[in-house]
Amino acid sequence: MTELERKQDRAPVPSEWTYASAPEARDIVTLQDRYGHYVGGEWLEARETYTTISPATEEPLAEVGQATPEEVQAAVDAARDAYANGWSDVSPSERAKYLFRIARILQERSREFAVLESLNGGKPIKESRDVDLPLSAAHFFYYAGWADKLEYAFPNRKPRPVGVAGQIIPWNFPLLMLAWKIAPALAAGNTVVLKPAETTPLSALLFCDVLRQAELPPGVVNIVTGDGRTGAEIVKSEGVDKVAFTGSTDVGKAIQRELAGTGKKLTLELGGKAANIIFDDAALDQAVEGIINGIYFNQGHVCCAGSRLLVQESIYEPVVEKLKRRLTTLRVGDPLDKNTDVGAINSKQQLDKIQELVASGAEEGAEIYQPPCRLPEQGYWFAPTVFTNVAQSYRIAQEEIFGPVLSILTFRTPDEAVEKANNTPYGLSAGVWTEKGSRILWMAERLRAGVVWANTYNRFDPSSPFGGYKESGFGREGGRHGLEPYLDLT
Ligand code: NAI
Ligand code: MG
Repeated sequence: MTELERKQDRAPVPSEWTYASAPEARDIVTLQDRYGHYVGGEWLEARETYTTISPATEEPLAEVGQATPEEVQAAVDAARDAYANGWSDVSPSERAKYLFRIARILQERSREFAVLESLNGGKPIKESRDVDLPLSAAHFFYYAGWADKLEYAFPNRKPRPVGVAGQIIPWNFPLLMLAWKIAPALAAGNTVVLKPAETTPLSALLFCDVLRQAELPPGVVNIVTGDGRTGAEIVKSEGVDKVAFTGSTDVGKAIQRELAGTGKKLTLELGGKAANIIFDDAALDQAVEGIINGIYFNQGHVCCAGSRLLVQESIYEPVVEKLKRRLTTLRVGDPLDKNTDVGAINSKQQLDKIQELVASGAEEGAEIYQPPCRLPEQGYWFAPTVFTNVAQSYRIAQEEIFGPVLSILTFRTPDEAVEKANNTPYGLSAGVWTEKGSRILWMAERLRAGVVWANTYNRFDPSSPFGGYKESGFGREGGRHGLEPYLDLT
């Protein structure tokens, strides 16, 4: 035995090889015990409240308002008043300055927002920090640029604001969805009443502080919190000229029925069941990363998630093997830990839905795979899951699960891939992985999806319009297209 070998022989062998925790400091966030509604630039004491929690620990975070019909009406009145008495006279270049300011403040306060977003929503800090916050700021920067160029965006069409926009957003990207909604509305010269989702109100409430810092005139943006009842009040309020909704297809349909014949403008961004299609000539390791990102990003709480994997039959085995191996390296746990890849499920309600659909998959005959991982005892958690042996008719191949659950199907020819990809009531997004440029174009022409990613997945940019076909909704957000729903054009 050499000296070195003797030393190694005596060295204690680590029994654990897990990562040490790397938690982001939480104290950058100062929570109030109780929040009201932000109406006309003031905090309106909420008559009714409920408790918002951290889904990772079930720890109560704050009391927030459940807006009553009167409180919603006060917010709509404030928006109307601000629209009629001042905001519509503000020059477009001045409007742009407010948007630029908001964007800058979001950048300056991004760590605070990122921590709060992870705390209230359960998403990994890595994602709130590197995706939600930069993209939220980018949306405000982007639409700030359009505010004084509307005549160029829509030449010879005399763009004018619509009036008061009622906006209802979901819990999967709370601040980012707020940015997607508020930035184009203000750039186009409207005022806003926005309701965040009931499980994730805190970043929208912190955003009110940004509005104050930016000295946005009172009433231009009003935020009311509460559940679907509050949302329904906004939709039916007489003072609202345009409704923008992102959420479930069922609620989207109900809103459409409610608004039929009223002349109010409406955009709906609803669910999806996207196909992520891997051809046998694709760069497999990159494709596997794209599959992982496509479905496990944000716990699969993504409307455009690549929840159906379509693999060409000849590469089925290596893809599934690589995928399973990669799955074992995903770190599931504390959203505030910088090493975490998969955080908490947003709510008990969503966890129940995921569990129910996963049980149906196993019952219908699909084969389930989950990597070994220890889930925390408190909070709402679901292990990253892959289903093989999935038939197109199974519920897990048809319904939106909105969780970290992938269903794998196979195809032989490009025609079959298109047919299977389009065999869904949805049409929001799709992914295509192949080395052949001509095939990408051929596929993109035939896929009935608002967004088609080629050799990448879940990429977003404020300049690129996003939205769906069929039951995924209508209207586009982002890009020049995203201004249109907020303008009257002649
Ligand atoms: P939801 O559609 O009920 O909630 C989305 C937003 O709409 C929330 O702000 C909610 O308070 C509001 N809302 C609920 N009922 C309303 C009504 N009658 N009138 C006006 N506003 C109303 O979605 P939920 O129940 O949170 O999730 C159910 C399923 O919907 C998920 O499992 C997922 O499949 C899908 N979903 C899709 C989203 C997307 O980004 N496309 C986002 C959230 C959910
Ligand atoms: Mg609901």
